[in-house]
Amino acid sequence: MMDIIRGRRSVRAFRPEPPSRTQLEQIIEAAGWAPSPHGRQPWRFAVITRDALKARLADAMGAEWRAQLALDGQDAATIALRHRKSQERITGAPAIIVPCLYLEDLDVYPDEGRQAAETTMAIQSLGCAIQNMLLAAFAQGLDTGWMCAPLFCPDTVRAALDLAPTMHPHALIPVGLAAKDPVRRPRRPLDELVVRWE
Ligand SMILES: Cc1cc2nc3c(=O)[nH]c(=O)nc-3n(C[C@H](O)[C@H](O)[C@H](O)COP(=O)(O)O)c2cc1C
Repeated sequence: MMDIIRGRRSVRAFRPEPPSRTQLEQIIEAAGWAPSPHGRQPWRFAVITRDALKARLADAMGAEWRAQLALDGQDAATIALRHRKSQERITGAPAIIVPCLYLEDLDVYPDEGRQAAETTMAIQSLGCAIQNMLLAAFAQGLDTGWMCAPLFCPDTVRAALDLAPTMHPHALIPVGLAAKDPVRRPRRPLDELVVRWE
């Protein structure tokens, strides 16, 4: 287990060979075994393997991202470069899983505070499900990445993928084989992580 945990790495460029349907199913199944508040499993997944759909998603997200970068005051050349690189990450991914937060089965409270805590629990749980996916993929010899961009344009992703309004896309997880070994980020030592132990 520790070898898989330590070995998993975020990959940003993939070889063209796609994962098999069985491999993708196993990855989603691993997500489904994550812990969740009240066992409600507040997640759903879109799996994209068709090139035309990847291109549609990349185009739609790219247009919105260009507008956001322009709002930030970035110059035209930088916007064009960042846009092209992000397009390539989507169209060049052999398969993409889009984890969506699904809030419909959660408890409903009359006050905002408890409702917000319920939503936070669901988001924590989606993170657990995604980590299960990343580890299950790595255990099968596959690599994954994590793109948070859908958080910044959920309506665009929903429209491009024809998802129901109850789906809240939280990430793009490309799945495939690494084109090259990425540089690993060092980890903090235990004595920095633990702030109190007695
Ligand atoms: C919530 C979340 C959002 C992330 N978003 C992005 C992203 O948009 N683009 C990206 O290249 N990596 C993204 N990452 C991956 C991190 O950059 C990566 O996990 C971190 O640098 C550590 O590297 P490692 O995963 O190889 O251990 C994200 C990771 C998390 C958990």
